[in-house]
Amino acid sequence: MDNKALVELVGRLTLEQKVALLTGEDFWSLRAVPEIGLRKLLVSDGPAGVRGTTWDERDPSLLFPNPTALAALWDPGQVRRAGALMGAQARDKGVAWHLAPNVNLHRSPLGGRHFECYSEDPVLTAKTAAAFVEGVQSAGVASTVKHFVGNESETERMTYDAVIDEATLREVYLPPFEAAVRAGVWSVMAAYNSVDGVSMTDNGPLITGVLKDGDGSGPGFGPGLGLGFDGVAVSDWFATRSTTESADAGLDVVMPGPTGPWGEALVAAVRRGEVEESAIDDKVLRVLRLADRTGFLDGSDPLPPVSTPDDADAQLRDIAARAMVVLRNEQVGADPLLPLDPGSVSRVAVIGPNAELLTAQGGGSAHVNPAHVISPLTALTEALGPMVTVDFAEGVVTQRLLPAITPQAATDPDTGHPGLRVDFIDPAGDVLGSEVRQASRFVFMGGLPAGTAGIRVRADVVIGQAGNHQFSVSGVGAFRLVIGDNAPMKITMSPSAGGDLVEGLVKPPEHRVDVEIETETVRIEVVAQVDPNLPIAMFGLNHQEPGPAEEELFQAAVDAARAADVVVMVVGTTDEVESEGFDRTDLRLPGRQDELVHAVAAQNPRTIVVVNAGAPVEMPWRDSVPAVLWAWFPGQEGGYAIADAVTGAVEPGGRLPTTFPKTAADAPVLSTAPVDGKVVYAEGSMFGYRGYAKAEIVPAYPFGHGLGYTTWEYEDITAGVNAAGDVEVAVKVRNTGERIGREVVQIYLACEGGDPQRDDPPRLAGFGTTLAAPNEIATVPITISRRVLARWDVARREWCVRAGVRELIAARSAWDARIRTRVELAGS
Ligand code: BGC
Repeated sequence: MDNKALVELVGRLTLEQKVALLTGEDFWSLRAVPEIGLRKLLVSDGPAGVRGTTWDERDPSLLFPNPTALAALWDPGQVRRAGALMGAQARDKGVAWHLAPNVNLHRSPLGGRHFECYSEDPVLTAKTAAAFVEGVQSAGVASTVKHFVGNESETERMTYDAVIDEATLREVYLPPFEAAVRAGVWSVMAAYNSVDGVSMTDNGPLITGVLKDGDGSGPGFGPGLGLGFDGVAVSDWFATRSTTESADAGLDVVMPGPTGPWGEALVAAVRRGEVEESAIDDKVLRVLRLADRTGFLDGSDPLPPVSTPDDADAQLRDIAARAMVVLRNEQVGADPLLPLDPGSVSRVAVIGPNAELLTAQGGGSAHVNPAHVISPLTALTEALGPMVTVDFAEGVVTQRLLPAITPQAATDPDTGHPGLRVDFIDPAGDVLGSEVRQASRFVFMGGLPAGTAGIRVRADVVIGQAGNHQFSVSGVGAFRLVIGDNAPMKITMSPSAGGDLVEGLVKPPEHRVDVEIETETVRIEVVAQVDPNLPIAMFGLNHQEPGPAEEELFQAAVDAARAADVVVMVVGTTDEVESEGFDRTDLRLPGRQDELVHAVAAQNPRTIVVVNAGAPVEMPWRDSVPAVLWAWFPGQEGGYAIADAVTGAVEPGGRLPTTFPKTAADAPVLSTAPVDGKVVYAEGSMFGYRGYAKAEIVPAYPFGHGLGYTTWEYEDITAGVNAAGDVEVAVKVRNTGERIGREVVQIYLACEGGDPQRDDPPRLAGFGTTLAAPNEIATVPITISRRVLARWDVARREWCVRAGVRELIAARSAWDARIRTRVELAGS
């Protein structure tokens, strides 16, 4: 539809109707306005898949390799492919508006949402985000670039003030948003935090000044030279705290609804003349434009006919394996230990908690419910084949909660069929509605029958073995628990002091009960109290069979390692360690995993360690094992992807999008805790690899590092300036190994200040990839736009290029420069 037609539709609405459209109808939708042919717009998280509007097993979603993995591809083409697949699933779920990508930067490795963001580098983040947006939107689904801006940590995330100097903001934190807007993104999410004292949902200079003003045709953004963003600026959930300030700042939609600071208060403000009605019209126009673009408005152009392809699982498996990073791969005997040829071994020990319980994703709003998660143990056993004996030992337990009750081990007491019975009850105990569920961790966000005062869950749990069983309820709130014939227990659990709502979901308190059981089944019943005014409930029912003591588990792992030809360890974090809603407090692997790796490696010199984590962890054992493969949070097909990478069926060709320090204390920026409500970005752009370089601290594994399965020689580099002022670089590389492989050529820019003695460390300016057979030479072309070469001139308030010579370094990582050239730039 053209703009005129959309404006005409806006004109047909009353002020009340217009304002009503600008706050969610509920948590996950904007209301329909049938009079103008507008259908209900469904909104869904998030960066690791399309959750849809329910948060449970009944509406499963494809679970993708998480964002740090996508960034580790260093390959916009592959990222676009992932985005298109996500867009296709959004279409299948009827979702118009998707809440990703998250382009906040890895400022501190402790950042809770590190796994959910792409990188510590703005250029890699920008290119990855633009490709993701293009992919999702190619399916006719709106992307939302978030969280605009300065949302690099989670501690006090609703309120902190990010103090960022102007040049750093322009050069480092805004470019990923700029790239998304230039890629045509249809929505931007305003963050919870403030920037320089102004709440982001009230921030006119940034929302309107930087994003919306102007037509985007200028050399970049500046006052009056905004990016020409014509989409919707939506608030983060519950982030809007004002009526007129936010409306005037350029925020378009308040989420979630139905209540909030706009509604009647905004209507009244318009009537009083405090907010122009034309400002409201502009917001509505933007919403209708989004509806038109996503096919939710009668008369919109037909969308491309896309739906989730049959090979979606295979695509996720392939992307996940490609994104994995070979951190270390030493010779053991004649060859490096990786890839592992199944034909060369007869007994393999698969060890570690994450081998059986893969952490396929991080916690928080990015969480989706996949239909299945393939464990590394299952996949490795399959890949090694029937001729290889596989011994499994978890070694240590890292899950804080008892295991969830599986539907296979529970039957509905009313019917005897598999699953758990959930009843919604009123204050008198009468049942208002009922359902059978195939999971035991529940999230209800609205959608309960009116008058619900309690949610009762009942199940007959199958008991595998007589003895001491543990049961637990996890969650925040008041519960009544009955196990078997025992007396009912009243349990009240509070959220941690100052904790985020999400923390209660991801890291709930748990109440455990020990029960001696001799029978074959036991009836368990829990009632969760619900506040009818806030119909939100999140809780779980958990059960642990009698099992070996911790020490026995540990010893079994050591014994298995000793008996094996090769050990594949899978260690890692959990979605309780890496999550939205709180930051990490250290970078250690949870539980006794470090100790386990040391103990196993001491038994078997042929130990491969696979690390299953979204963000850096300390690996104090890294030099004591010959091979370390970094697997990220690899999504639902993660087990298969790990097996493909370990056996070399796919080359794990990822490169680190972030620096991995030896110890947390080495990170240039560590603390995420606001001081007096402020997070001061005093380091400017000297964090990540530039911060390590400036402080001359050698990391464990640098930004850009990744060995792949072959070796490369850098033979030549040339560079020149084209008519548009962009620098065109060509790098000639030769595959000197014995396998076909993929190389990521990274170009770092040096000599920016013109005085090599005093210049800041080089920064990434561009990259390109190639695939080459053994001994093949490939030339990799890389264009560095003039915009990337420019710096923000605070006095002139515009992008400027200093005239003079720059050095371009072709490198295999930020610490592995291979070949250099110089180029002379004209100034501006
Ligand atoms: C998160 C957003 C998310 C929203 C909706 C917020 O807590 O910060 O990233 O999209 O919730 O779930």
